[in-house]
Amino acid sequence: MKKILFVTSEAHPLIKTGGLADVCGSLPKALAELSQDIRLIIPNYQALKTSESVRFMCSIRVDNRNINILETRMPDSQVIVWLVDYPSYFNYPGNPYVDEQGESWANNAERFGLFCRIAVEAAMDRVNQDWKPDVVHCNDWQSGLVPALLSFENDRPSTIFTIHNMAYQGLFPASAAATLNIPGQLWHPAGLEFHGMLSFIKGGLVYADYITTVSPTYALEIQTAEFGYGLEGLLEHRKEFLGGIINGIDLDQWDAEKDPYIAQTYSLSTLDKKQLNKVALQTKFSLPVKGDIPLFGLIGRLVAQKGIDMILECLPEMMTMDIQFVLLGSGDKEFEKQLKDLALLYPDKIAVQIGYDEALAHLIEAGADVFLMPSRFEPCGLNQMYSQRYGTIPIVRKTGGLADTVMDSLPTTLADKTASGIVFSEASASALLEAIKRTLILYSMPDTWKKMQTNAMNKNFSWQRSAQEYLELYEKI
Ligand code: ADP
Ligand code: GLC
Repeated sequence: MKKILFVTSEAHPLIKTGGLADVCGSLPKALAELSQDIRLIIPNYQALKTSESVRFMCSIRVDNRNINILETRMPDSQVIVWLVDYPSYFNYPGNPYVDEQGESWANNAERFGLFCRIAVEAAMDRVNQDWKPDVVHCNDWQSGLVPALLSFENDRPSTIFTIHNMAYQGLFPASAAATLNIPGQLWHPAGLEFHGMLSFIKGGLVYADYITTVSPTYALEIQTAEFGYGLEGLLEHRKEFLGGIINGIDLDQWDAEKDPYIAQTYSLSTLDKKQLNKVALQTKFSLPVKGDIPLFGLIGRLVAQKGIDMILECLPEMMTMDIQFVLLGSGDKEFEKQLKDLALLYPDKIAVQIGYDEALAHLIEAGADVFLMPSRFEPCGLNQMYSQRYGTIPIVRKTGGLADTVMDSLPTTLADKTASGIVFSEASASALLEAIKRTLILYSMPDTWKKMQTNAMNKNFSWQRSAQEYLELYEKI
């Protein structure tokens, strides 16, 4: 049995802005089910919600501040959670990283710098718990300083750093290094410095014993200039200690057979009932209720990563086709506006809800026929896996985890029963349109479509296999 300290800035159902939370909520649970002793450490944000009781655990002094650590559990699991409670840094309303205008909180370097220092104290058994981890597993830039600071400690635990997205690196002006009291030995271009800035992510990439990312394809892509954002050289240099482990999905949350958020539960043997979710979705969005019209869905952060610009370019031509499109998301204000304008222009065909809505996300997965995910890059992506489990055929671009989890529908893959979606290569609106047209042809052939749905729903995306791979890695390092 390994003792694992899991360091993350979000974990579902406590707090979530995206897929990082899904993974950091469900991977620790899966590891606990493999009998590992795992504890999760996370900031105590104002918006953090839990149904479990919370107790005071200890108070420690770091950087001349007194910080409380509270203890609770992940709802419906044995995983212990340590909440870093420092109200003047974390008791802010709403999102963990940005204010209501979408601007980063001005003191993010201090906030997550302090979080990393506390995680180091916990990793070194200096929080009075008589519990010292064998492995510290860090996730994304918010935890990046942990491997760097641990590198100074004698008898330290092994460290793993998982990259969920290279596009977010935690870059701050050099002055932040002084404010955070970053040891001088870390401040050089082969350390935490990145073109004169302080880079949190480099703390993970340079100093962790092993780096993982969330799909094998993305592990290769980030070693190239297109996806590495200037860190491709470093990643290539560390490639012996870099690997991809695909995310799983939490079948307690995402299972059409028992999903409490959808209008009608269903399974492969009762697939006809999926239609009732389509009716509920069309009704909810005030679209004409029609059974035979292909309904496209999209859920996600409205940012360039997700290929929203390509969709905006395609939508006018899509509107000449007999289809409907529903979208749930928030992000870039310009994308939000253009999407809302199109919904006003085509009220019978496009419906848009701006915002975050967990229940509606489930209904879209269940009610849509097709899920659109034409990302420019995608480290793993979860929605394409959810949609396959729900018999909703994804259209994806061949990149990152999308390439690793969706099999294109071609005569060969239909014959060998692996076809589970539509995959296209070039990041352009015209390539996406071709993929959409190909989808409509397949949709017009009910037997073929049903075969694709069957293959998709039969795929195994459970956490067991991936959690086992992490465990092997913990043992190896
Ligand atoms: P990313 O982490 O890049 O945003 P993923 O596909 O890995 O992308 O995960 C996104 C997660 O966030 C999924 O669980 C998705 O359903 C959820 N999500 C994204 N936007 C919304 C939204 N507006 N409302 C509800 N859930 C959302
Ligand atoms: C990131 C990525 C996404 C991935 C998620 C969880 O947010 O953008 O592709 O699925 O992390 O690993």
